[in-house]
Amino acid sequence: MNTIIAIIVSYLLGSISFSFLAGKFLKGIDIREHGSGNAGATNTLRVLGKGPGLSVFVLDIFKGVLAIWIAAWLVPDTVRVEILCGFAVVAGHNWPVFFNFKGGKGIATTIGVMLTLCFLPVIYAGILAILVIAITRYVSVGSLLFATVLPLFILWMDKPHEILWLSLIVFVFAYVRHRTNLVKLWNGKENKISFKK
Ligand code: G3P
Repeated sequence: MNTIIAIIVSYLLGSISFSFLAGKFLKGIDIREHGSGNAGATNTLRVLGKGPGLSVFVLDIFKGVLAIWIAAWLVPDTVRVEILCGFAVVAGHNWPVFFNFKGGKGIATTIGVMLTLCFLPVIYAGILAILVIAITRYVSVGSLLFATVLPLFILWMDKPHEILWLSLIVFVFAYVRHRTNLVKLWNGKENKISFKK
């Protein structure tokens, strides 16, 4: 029973779209109708500025951390429940029940989940992603690189196979949710990030 509760709570937690709430409260807008149309930290930065963008990024990461903590608290010593809750919180972020199932791309929440489950692979993948974003100024390229190299670092560092499985699922999620970014990159129309606002 606790397993089911943990999964449902994680999905509902993921469904809280801080990006949407920031848009509504700060500017009275639906963030999904502005910028890239994504309810995530990058688009919040683009549409609302640095402060809201950074806050949404941190809160989205924290959602992921919290889901794993809830799993560990409700069903201690079972990495499988943590994996299911990690999956549920990212799914909630991407397809939120509170916002017509139209959410974000799941990268920040994935960072929170995976940081809690396997710290070092996330740090290594994160450093590579930050470097690529700094060079190209395409957050989507950094995000996809992060999702791609994370399973490789997990494999290399010999982490439990359940964690590897989760990293492969979020890898698929990341590519599915970045479809429009990939098309824009291909056509040379992807937005570059700017921190001037
Ligand atoms: O994590 C989202 C980022 O990779 C792309 O966001 O708003 O440019 O589609 P956006």
